[in-house]
Amino acid sequence: MSTPSFTSLIPAAGTVQADPVIAALALAPVPAERPYTLVNFVSSVDGRAAFHGRSRAFSDPGDRAIFHALRERVDAVLVGASTLRAEDYGRIIPDPDRRARRVAAGRPAEPLAVTITRSGEVPLDAPLFAEPAARVVVFSGPELDVRSVAADVRVLPLGAEVDGDGGLHAAMATLCHDHGVESLLCEGGPHLFGALLRAGLVDELFLTLAAKLAGGDSGPSITAGSPLSELAQLELAGLLASGPTLYLRYAVTS
Ligand SMILES: NC(=O)c1ccc[n+]([C@@H]2O[C@H](COP(=O)([O-])OP(=O)(O)OC[C@H]3O[C@@H](n4cnc5c(N)ncnc54)[C@H](OP(=O)(O)O)[C@@H]3O)[C@@H](O)[C@H]2O)c1
Repeated sequence: MSTPSFTSLIPAAGTVQADPVIAALALAPVPAERPYTLVNFVSSVDGRAAFHGRSRAFSDPGDRAIFHALRERVDAVLVGASTLRAEDYGRIIPDPDRRARRVAAGRPAEPLAVTITRSGEVPLDAPLFAEPAARVVVFSGPELDVRSVAADVRVLPLGAEVDGDGGLHAAMATLCHDHGVESLLCEGGPHLFGALLRAGLVDELFLTLAAKLAGGDSGPSITAGSPLSELAQLELAGLLASGPTLYLRYAVTS
């Protein structure tokens, strides 16, 4: 499989590839009580995050290159339970070369996989849970019986709510203090992203803007749930292009 090249427009002009760009990211110092948190989404130009219930139609080789490079970079990957139910989640790093690079750098072969659910409706038949090498943390309202799955799954209770955050601050603190997670990649979905934003827990947004239109008026945008009390301000930290697609990196500044 060929590695896609990108035209870099910001911060520097040139031709680049995803892996070195993502590997060189200067992730800001970690606040003591939570991981440094990146969010990654793909969207159509008309702002849809899913087409017929899935995001796959918007993705392209450039998006997948950034997606996998980000996974290789972080300590944990967080996904909302609804996305876990909608998308076919498998092992986090399927490429053995990527796993080997992490191990050579003294890191676990794969990031910790994390999900969060109030209902306890976790699709234990998803390929992720059939993977013996996978390490998974599930923050769950109800207790779950995970004895039937091959993955190493820890089910942790949702922590106390802070300002209606659904236990997100507590979950971030647990990941940081008990699981050594300094960098976290949230892959959605929109409700979880919205909740993380409202709780002030997002540092950066990676957004692939696919040159596609989904139409209609009912598809989700990349954020959902209650609106923010004030607009989140973004600073453009990176801009790549490949063919008709734009790949944006924003810092969430307030
Ligand atoms: N375009 C993209 O890049 C992209 C990325 C990801 C997902 N998607 C799409 O987005 C859709 C799913 O997203 P979604 O917004 O419906 O769901 P979501 O954000 O993936 O998950 C929401 C669920 O997370 C759980 N949760 C626990 N605590 C929460 C909290 N504090 N705030 C919010 N959720 C919390 C709840 O699970 P329970 O219901 O179990 O209680 C809630 O229903 C799918 O169509 C998927 O394809 C697109």
